[in-house]
Amino acid sequence: MKKWNNENKIAVLDFGGQYAHLIANRIRRLGVYSEILPNDVAPRQLKGFKGIIISGGPQNISEDDSLKCHSGVFKLGTPVLGICYGHQLISHILGGKVSRGKTKEYGKAIVYLKQKKGIFSGLSDQETVWMSHGDYVSKLAPGFEIIATTVDCPTAAVADYQRNIFGLQFHPEVTHTSSGMKILDNFIYKVCRAGKNWDMKTFITQETKKIKERLKGKKVFLLVSGGVDSTVCFALLNKALGPSRVYGLNIDNGLMRQNEQKEIESVFRKNGFTNFHRINASEEFLNSLTGVFDPENKRKIIGQKFITVQDQETKKLRLNPKEWILGQGTIYPDTIETGGTKHAAVIKTHHNRVEAVQKMINQGKIIEPIKELYKDEVRQVGEMLGLPHNLVYRHPFPGPGLGIRCLCADKEYPIGPKPLGKINGIARQYKLKVKILPIKSVGVQGDSRTYAHPCVLAGNTNFKTLEKASTDITNNIREINRVIWLLTKTAISKFRLKKSYLTKMRLDLLREADALVNDYLRKNKLYESIWQFPVVLIPLSFGGGESIVLRPINSTEAMTANFTRLPLKHVKAMANKIMKLKEIDAVFYDVTNKPPATIEWE
Ligand code: XMP
Repeated sequence: MKKWNNENKIAVLDFGGQYAHLIANRIRRLGVYSEILPNDVAPRQLKGFKGIIISGGPQNISEDDSLKCHSGVFKLGTPVLGICYGHQLISHILGGKVSRGKTKEYGKAIVYLKQKKGIFSGLSDQETVWMSHGDYVSKLAPGFEIIATTVDCPTAAVADYQRNIFGLQFHPEVTHTSSGMKILDNFIYKVCRAGKNWDMKTFITQETKKIKERLKGKKVFLLVSGGVDSTVCFALLNKALGPSRVYGLNIDNGLMRQNEQKEIESVFRKNGFTNFHRINASEEFLNSLTGVFDPENKRKIIGQKFITVQDQETKKLRLNPKEWILGQGTIYPDTIETGGTKHAAVIKTHHNRVEAVQKMINQGKIIEPIKELYKDEVRQVGEMLGLPHNLVYRHPFPGPGLGIRCLCADKEYPIGPKPLGKINGIARQYKLKVKILPIKSVGVQGDSRTYAHPCVLAGNTNFKTLEKASTDITNNIREINRVIWLLTKTAISKFRLKKSYLTKMRLDLLREADALVNDYLRKNKLYESIWQFPVVLIPLSFGGGESIVLRPINSTEAMTANFTRLPLKHVKAMANKIMKLKEIDAVFYDVTNKPPATIEWE
């Protein structure tokens, strides 16, 4: 076993949003353990760390109450790398100046490197990077020099080689920055001189040890959905505690996919998990969702119901609450979207972060062994624990299941005159017809949640044009956060909103459409080339029925995503199959990236 070396860690100071965690994930992938600490951590707590990274954040330095770090951080003699907001903060604290830029840089940019040593060792003269800022460093702090520029930002990267302090206006942690990983690699190994101390094997060994220590004499009750996260969590707990101390329960909540519970059971049985059990609580779940149409309400009710049903079950099984603790397969992105870190905004309340669960976490009644991992890391752990490939590489499926893919409506959301005025002009430029829909779906802008209208584009075109039109629309019309493309021969002007709630009938219809899509993907060997493929039922009627939206996306951690451009012959073939369902009037394709839309519609 590798020795766990606490002295060899990188500290990442958290300034809100998703930044710190993404950086920490990247550093771990490079082989060094990174720990996330609050922005205002006392400098003495940073002693012993090999390096410090100050993350980006959603604020502006100029705001009075903007987050700062302690100036003592720079007196420790430890190398520091500031990223975006962190870069500006370094200048601000060490005697430079930060000002509003004339232009906001957002998206890809070219940086011109002046130096190719230290963090830029081995890079080219020009590099593509990802920028997202309005402010910039307008005066360097004493001791600093400029080491890279862009056309719009004269201080794209700065360095004080004497003190080993670096600042980057761009984001090396996002995949759009082509040499981003190389820059981080240079920082941790060349500048900080850290040694490798992290891989998934180390994680498994350490976590198994931690579970054993924490649960001395105790047992874990875990809800297992059949998804990657809870399955890996189940396998890890089994490894640490043995099957007699773990009880895995799958609850059919009526929101699962077609035949899912049976399939999951057979996989678990085949793989020797004797401690997997299942119950059917679909009626109880659906009853509690009668008349509910608001997405956040749905999530909260579903999350709460899981706890209630689980309580009933543990009572039925006469499990002694002093002996049993609850396990959850929460992974990192679940916590961040619920506003899990100190400064993050709530985008969606994930089902395993509802109030009742949060209370239990605070009381130490829940164990979440994989809560710091991202999906790619969870999959690695799954494979290392010997779980079958097709289980580990299943598409992610949300805890609230089809409940958040089955849109409900009790009345139209009125569309104001402003978007209506603008949108026709934009669609005309692309020679497409357009219609704004009187429903709403969830999106994300900056670090905030939006709940806004989707619009439909119709006409013969291709994905390249659709992506441009979609970006143009969502960038220019605040009231629209999602764009879909009509795949079927339906007259888009002739729809009406169908009053509808979460019912078994509608869920069965969605299950059928979803099964058609998933069978098609597997048969045509497309399944693993797509990260996730929500199939969504929307209450849009063109003749008594409803509509289906196909939402295939590609992503690495679900924090950002691009809609997948599947070959049109496959898209049309799937739409044709779905149109054979009697109750379906139209099929659409979601052509929105995340942001501005989220992956799921709710
Ligand atoms: P969004 O829709 O926020 O989704 O872009 C990001 C990823 O998270 C999944 N998701 C959930 N997973 N409980 C979960 O376990 C939830 O409440 C939940 N909501 C979204 C979603 O499927 C996607 O992979």
